[in-house]
Amino acid sequence: MAMKKVLSIVAASAMAASVLAGCAAAPAAAPAAAPAAEEAKEEVAEAAEEAADEVAEAANGDLAGKKVGVCIYQFSDNFMTLFRNELESYLVAQGFDPANITIVDGKNDQGEQTNQIQNFITEGVDVLIINPVNSSSAATITDLVHDAGIPLVYINREPDAQEEARWADNNWDVTYVGCDARQSGTMQGEIIADLGLDAIDFNGNGKIDYIMIEGDPENIDAAYRTEYSVKALEDAGFEVNCLDDQVGMWQQEQGQSLVANSLAQYGNDVEVVFCNNDAMALGALQAIQAAGRVVGEDIYLVGVDALTEALEDVIAGTMTGTVFNDHISQSHSAADAAINYITGAGNEHYIGCDYVKATKDNAEDILASLQ
Ligand code: BGC
Repeated sequence: MAMKKVLSIVAASAMAASVLAGCAAAPAAAPAAAPAAEEAKEEVAEAAEEAADEVAEAANGDLAGKKVGVCIYQFSDNFMTLFRNELESYLVAQGFDPANITIVDGKNDQGEQTNQIQNFITEGVDVLIINPVNSSSAATITDLVHDAGIPLVYINREPDAQEEARWADNNWDVTYVGCDARQSGTMQGEIIADLGLDAIDFNGNGKIDYIMIEGDPENIDAAYRTEYSVKALEDAGFEVNCLDDQVGMWQQEQGQSLVANSLAQYGNDVEVVFCNNDAMALGALQAIQAAGRVVGEDIYLVGVDALTEALEDVIAGTMTGTVFNDHISQSHSAADAAINYITGAGNEHYIGCDYVKATKDNAEDILASLQ
C-alpha cells in the first residue's frame, strides 16, 4: 500500500517578505511553535523516517538501477557542500549505484542550471533533486521537469507559496525539503537576548546597536533570518538600533569587507553583529579581530549553520553563538522523498525540519555529533 511521507507542521506557505537590505522594522507575526507541537512534530518525523526506511528496504534491489540528477546552485557554498556530500553518501547507503548519481554545479547561474536540467531530462533520469539558483525561476523549472514526467524534489531555496500551491492543486510529484528560516532568526535573536541588556549595552544608550549582514535575497532564508532575529530582541523587551544592513551573498569575503566598513564607520557603537550564515560570520570575525575588537568583551557575533569552524569559534568564545542548520536531516529527507517518488509511495508537498540553537553550552555536543 502506498505510504505517504508525512508533512511537517512547520508553516510552508509564508510568502517571501521584503528582501531589500537596509535597516527596517521587524514583522508582527511570531514563528515559534508550541512545545506540544514540537513533540508531535518529532513523533511525526520519526514515523516518516521509519516509513521511508521500510520503503527503501523494499525497493533496495531496484534503486541500484535508478538514476538521480542533483543540481546544486553553487559548489563553492560551504553549507551546500556539507549538504551535497551527505546527500550523496546517504543515497549510496540507500542502495543507489554511485555511477547513477550525478551532481552538477550551477555556478550561481540560472541559465547554466537550466541547461543542466535539460541535459538530465534528455538523459532520462528517474528523479531530480534541485537547489535552484533563482527560486523565482521555480515555476519554469517545475514545468520543464513535470512535462518530462520526472518527479522533482526542491531543496534549500524554497519556491514561493503560489508555486507550491500549484503542485498540490495539480497533484504533481513535486515537493520541497527545508527548514523554516524564521525559527533560525528567532534563535539568533534569543542567543543575544539571553545575555541581558547590561552585558550588551557597551555604549550605555539603553539600546542594542547592531549591524546585519544578509545572504542572497534569492533565498528566503536571508529575509526571514534578518527579520526574526531583530523581532526576537524586540519580543524580549529590548529597544534596538540598526546601524547598518548589507547584503553579503552568503560569502565569507563579503562578510569580512562589509563588517570592516561598518566597524570603520560606527566604531565602538557596534554592539552586535548578526550574520545570516556562518560563512559571513567567519568573515565578520576576521574584520572584528582586525579592528582590535574582542567578541564577548566589547562586541557579540552570531551566525547560522553550525559549520565546524564556527562551532570551534563558539567553543573558544570568538563567536557568541550559531544555529545548527541540519544538513543531515535535510539531505536524508530529500533522498527519502526521491525514493518515495521512485517507488510510487509519493510525498506531501512540504517536508520540514528543525533548527537547533548552538551556544557555548552545547557546541561541543553538536560538533561531536557531526564527526
Ligand atoms: C544557508 C547558507 C547557504 C544558503 C544557500 C542557507 O540555508 O544557511 O549558508 O549559503 O542556504 O542557499
